[in-house]
Amino acid sequence: MKVISTAKDMQELSIKLQHQGKTIGFVPTMGFLHEGHLALLKQARAENDIVVLSIFVNPTQFGPNEDFDTYPRNFERDERLAKAEAADYLFYPSVAEMYPGQASVSISVIDRVDVLCGAKRPGHFDGVATVLTKLFHLVQPNRAYFGKKDAQQVAVVHGLITDFKFPIELVAVDTVREEDGLAKSSRNVNLLDSERKEAPALYQSLQKAKQLIESGERDVEMVKREIERTIKKNTSGTIDYVAIYSYPELKPLDKLDGQFIIAIAIQFSKARLIDNIIMEI
Ligand code: PAJ
Repeated sequence: MKVISTAKDMQELSIKLQHQGKTIGFVPTMGFLHEGHLALLKQARAENDIVVLSIFVNPTQFGPNEDFDTYPRNFERDERLAKAEAADYLFYPSVAEMYPGQASVSISVIDRVDVLCGAKRPGHFDGVATVLTKLFHLVQPNRAYFGKKDAQQVAVVHGLITDFKFPIELVAVDTVREEDGLAKSSRNVNLLDSERKEAPALYQSLQKAKQLIESGERDVEMVKREIERTIKKNTSGTIDYVAIYSYPELKPLDKLDGQFIIAIAIQFSKARLIDNIIMEI
């Protein structure tokens, strides 16, 4: 596996690979890799000639009071893990390489962002879409892999690829969980021991909701109330949101129908956790 740190080297390489007729699978990340990221890498490995992993903690997607400075980082460990998954190239640019000087253009996401995390984190998805636009131009992937854990991100990337006509297939990969159901996340290390013990209640509340719906419940408010009850009873966290929307459009629903997402965000003392399930009836 080769580490590439400049935009120019990355783009020259992908142009060469494309000319050779190789398919490129791309896994964009912010590093501190865990099994969730590795699942994306494994699927990319199985479906493409060449696998490119990027590690870049993107400053433009963090708000002023968010955790950019304290976001967990461990490049040596990430490099080892990526090698073990047989990634071919690790793109690891500096902030100056990705954002040299004053920007003259940035992407503004205008749909699917006024709800869920987008509503709580203004500008977050603009930063995600801006950095992904740059990364897509540098890596020129045939397929790009994203986790359903960040389902709103998948919906936004779907919009970006469709609107801007990127010749890229978006592949959405199922959420990888700890044995007790907690969705794997780089931010889980910021949970206190007591909070870590409570955190499986997030997924349990979603599973309860799923059972309710499978046994015939169609009232959105009823399902949301049941989730809130489970979370309040079993965790010390505060509920940021419990929401149900059509998916991937992310529009409000009167009654459960078609494909929809049940999504939650809970704020603990030093970590904000999100989880979701996507269902179809
Ligand atoms: P990051 O949080 O590092 O996540 C990288 C990818 O891993 C995302 O597509 C995310 O959905 C996926 N992922 C995280 N946890 C997962 C889990 N438990 N199961 C399956 N997939 C999981 O998301 C970002 O970085 C950034 O916003 C990025 C897209 C790189 C743009 O900066």
